[in-house]
Formats: sequence, structure tokens, C-alpha cells
Amino acid sequence: MTLKAVVTGCGAYLPEHVLTNVDLAKKVDTSDEWIRERTGIRERRIAGPGERTSDLAVNAARAAMRAADVNPADIDLIIVATTTPDLTFPATAAIVQAKLGVLQGAAFDIQAVCTGFIYALATAEKFLVSGQHRRALVIGAETFSRILDWSDRATCVLFGDGAGAFVVEAIPEEAAGERGVIASYLRTDGSLVDLLYVDGGVSSTGQVGHVRMQGNKVFREAIERISEAMTTVSRQAGISPTEIDWFVPHQANERIIQGVVKKLDLRPDQVVSTIAGQGNTSAASIPLAYCQGVADGRIKKGDLVMIEGMGGGLTWGAALLRA
Ligand code: UT7
Repeated sequence: MTLKAVVTGCGAYLPEHVLTNVDLAKKVDTSDEWIRERTGIRERRIAGPGERTSDLAVNAARAAMRAADVNPADIDLIIVATTTPDLTFPATAAIVQAKLGVLQGAAFDIQAVCTGFIYALATAEKFLVSGQHRRALVIGAETFSRILDWSDRATCVLFGDGAGAFVVEAIPEEAAGERGVIASYLRTDGSLVDLLYVDGGVSSTGQVGHVRMQGNKVFREAIERISEAMTTVSRQAGISPTEIDWFVPHQANERIIQGVVKKLDLRPDQVVSTIAGQGNTSAASIPLAYCQGVADGRIKKGDLVMIEGMGGGLTWGAALLRA
């Protein structure tokens, strides 16, 4: 029996506290105008003092399970893409599993920074179509505010906290029809670690560290590599990128998104952009944007959706799915 991995529900969660550009301009030498013009960001959400990545993940996961009409007893795989885990170990996915009351299956984290959700979805798809697992929660969740250097205006204005989740189910091809994950493409170039990294860690400094980024160098890499990934998955699927219904990108910079739109001849109205209100939520940004598109009625069952990500590593990748 041929199985397909179908997204049957998605859920989003954003912390309550809103940090605006104007608020930030009181802390560092920046302005609302600079941040909006260079990035498209107006405000971002910041997790409360007691709020952990697993709490954000659990809220998004519960919303996704409601949307898919499943309960914890139905889930046998949890993959959390995060760069900001609750603890050094165990995996945040294990903590999420316990908080959700899921008593069966496996749970693990994936670390590919802003590309994490693409890696997590591609991994889940392989487990599901092989028949090893039946129903997965694929979650992108971050408290990125905890690894920012709040005195570095070049990075602290860019990021926010949040979580998004998909329920992905193994469904026989006859029942799934055209729906499901169609293709995915993952890349890493570890020679570019220095462009975007955190200057601490368990086996180096013993401290958590802060985000360091050569922003303009990352920017120069981004459009090229994202377009390459999208072109590759389109080729695997036998379509042209212009045939997609919706483009749900990682939300790092509105200028990067528009650069990709231009390079691949997409239409601006095909883009689901959440960057203005959320900033860059790293692994959470793709499912958060996807959920926004579903919630406001743009992404409908059967639509062809392209998702992509790029981040520290460098890592980059894309996936094509029929909703
Ligand atoms: O999700 C992971 C992947 N991350 C990305 O894709 C981020 C990619 N990079 C970017 O989005 C952009 O490079 C940034 C938004 C980070 C920066 O924009 P930019 O147009 O590349 O600016 P820049 O780094 O070349 O800096 C231009 C100027 C500099 O001043 P001087 O040297 O020209 O006097 C910076 O010091 O802007 C200055 N600057 C700021 N000014 C006001 C940098 N950050 C700020 C700021 N407010 N927050």
C-alpha cells in the first residue's frame, strides 16, 4: 500500500507581549523607519518570563490537533524544530509529549535553525510514508528572545518568539488523492557557520551565548539559495514554480521574500507574509505563516503550497505540498 503524508491540521501560538519597533528604539540606536524599510517588521511577540519553548509548542500543537480533529492517543511521532530548547537535554519534544499527555510513539528535536521546520517536515514525511509511524505532530517553536544580545541593534530588532504546528498523517494514496507532501529538498553548507551562529554552547563555553550574524552576507546568499531550493523541488514534482497557488516562506526579511518572488516570476499576491507582526521566529515562522493563510481562508484544501527556509549552518531547503 502506498502511503502519503498529508497535513490534516495546523495550529499557531504567539505569546501575548508585543514589542514594537518604537519600544526597541528606546533601548538601542535604531528607528521604526529603519526597521520597517530594511526588513518589513513592525512588531514582534516576546515570551513571558515563565513561558518556555515547550509551552509555546504545546499551545500550537493543541490548536493543530483541534483543527485535525485528533487527540493525544492518536499521535505516535512528535518532532520539534527548535534552536531554543527548554533544557540542554532531554529534547523539547519529550517535554512536549509529556505536557500533551501523549503516551506512545517517539519524540525528538531537530536543529536546523530557521530551516528547522523544513527539515522536520521532510523527516516526518519519510517516517510516515514508510509506515513506521501513523500520525505526527511537526512543530516549530522558539523563544529566540532568550539568545539575543539586546545591545546589538543589527540582530535584536529582527527576531520574535512563537510556535506553529502541523498534524501530518499517513493516508493511503487512494484516499489521499492529490493531497500530501510532494517533494522536499534539504541542504547544508557548514563552511558558512561564521555567517550566522550563537557564540556559546555546552562543549565550547558552557554558556548559552548570543546570536551573531553578518547580516548583509547572509542576505546576499539568501535569494540565490532559496530560489535554488524552490526550483529543485518544483523540478522533482514536474512543475514550474509559477504553478503553485501559495508561497509560504520563512519570514526573515520582506526584501528577501520579494527578491525570491521576482527571481521566480511569482506574483506578490501569492505570498503569505506575517513578518510585519511577528518578525523572524526562526523554525516557527513557516507553520505560523501557513496557519495564517489557512485561518484567513487563502490556503484551501487541494491548493499547491511551496514552503522554504534558510538559516544558520548555513542550512536551506524547500518543500512542496498539496494542502
Ligand atoms: O533567518 C535567518 C536568516 N537571516 C536572514 O536572512 C537575515 C539576512 N539579513 C538581513 O535581513 C539584512 O542584512 C539586515 C536586515 C540584517 C540588515 O540590512 P542591510 O540592508 O543588509 O544593512 P547592513 O547590515 O548592510 O547595514 C547598513 C547600515 C550599517 O550602518 P553603516 O555601516 O552603513 O553606517 C549598520 O550599522 O545599517 C546599520 N544598522 C542599523 N541602523 C539602524 C544595522 N542595524 C541597524 C538598526 N537600526 N537596527
